[in-house]
Amino acid sequence: MFQENIFQGMIKPMDEGNAPQPCSGKTVVITGATSGIGWQAALDFARRGAYVIGVGRSAERAAQAEQRIRAAVPRAHIGYVLADLASQAQVRRAATAIRARLQADGFTRLDVLINNAGTYAGKLILTEDGFEQTFAVNHLAPFLLTQELVDLLAASGDGRVLTTSSGSHYRTWLNLRRIHHPRLFNGLWAYKTAKLCNVLFSAEFNRVHAALPVRAFAVDPGLVNTEIGFKQTDWLSRTVWHFRRNGGTHPEVPVRTLLTLAGMARAELETRYNHQGELPIYWKDSQPKTPSRAARSRNLARELWALSSRLCHPGAA
Ligand SMILES: NC(=O)c1ccc[n+]([C@@H]2O[C@H](COP(=O)([O-])OP(=O)(O)OC[C@H]3O[C@@H](n4cnc5c(N)ncnc54)[C@H](OP(=O)(O)O)[C@@H]3O)[C@@H](O)[C@H]2O)c1
Repeated sequence: MFQENIFQGMIKPMDEGNAPQPCSGKTVVITGATSGIGWQAALDFARRGAYVIGVGRSAERAAQAEQRIRAAVPRAHIGYVLADLASQAQVRRAATAIRARLQADGFTRLDVLINNAGTYAGKLILTEDGFEQTFAVNHLAPFLLTQELVDLLAASGDGRVLTTSSGSHYRTWLNLRRIHHPRLFNGLWAYKTAKLCNVLFSAEFNRVHAALPVRAFAVDPGLVNTEIGFKQTDWLSRTVWHFRRNGGTHPEVPVRTLLTLAGMARAELETRYNHQGELPIYWKDSQPKTPSRAARSRNLARELWALSSRLCHPGAA
């Protein structure tokens, strides 16, 4: 098998030796599937026989992403749904479109939801809903999309919600009072706190939905050579990223962790519970890792969940 190397534009053999669990026949939704880690995930899941729905915000980039996957995997089951995840209305419409597409293809379940789309912004941008964009795209969108699709994930009987977090979450804490509309803005701080939210969300999802056969995990991709630092950023951030990303891995490295968690059967997951009877929810390089102290705070996770519910359902109490 061959795989496109997005860095040098070369074709290199796929590393089947490290290939995690098979995903054949699984239904998988991946946000941010037009570039970087998300595109690589769409390719690698499609290559392993999964039915993949990618979510992208640009029709042109989505078409190009799909074309590149079909060129590499002619028999791929792949399609794209369009949504700017900064808009809650569009997140809801994406969920409806995903549901319709699955149904049209005869599926009544969703096995894996990968909340991967992420953004870093150099300045304060408010979304149409009035929320700081980094928080809205990186945290509120996964929260809302997951809630909108949770019944389909439960119908899987062994559903997974995988959210791309970051090791940068170790270097921050969370003040929930104005996180959605900060008075003072720092792009890096906003990014790190949103990535901390990804871990808290995954932990609280498992508590809130303990009765459902769906489990959530946060994935730390490590430093990965992608375009993320070149979008919506100032010249300084672009310059720093230009050099920093060279030390990053190929996106196929974090995708292995996504494949591992997606393919691990429930019985196998149950062997991973720790001494306190908790499922390890933060994973890097296909292994569990202890997240930051803040990320392990139950109170913080509960408060974030309550805030997110209010912000995504303004009519609710
Ligand atoms: N690269 C790293 O070293 C690193 C490290 C830790 C964590 N991460 C996380 O990994 C995830 C993937 O990032 P990446 O490095 O692969 O960067 P990337 O190549 O820029 O991919 C980000 C993806 O998210 C999409 N996206 C951004 N804003 C969106 C919006 N408003 N609506 C819909 N889609 C949107 C992008 O779409 P477009 O193609 O239209 O831009 C793109 O497909 C992110 O959550 C990031 O925080 C990355």
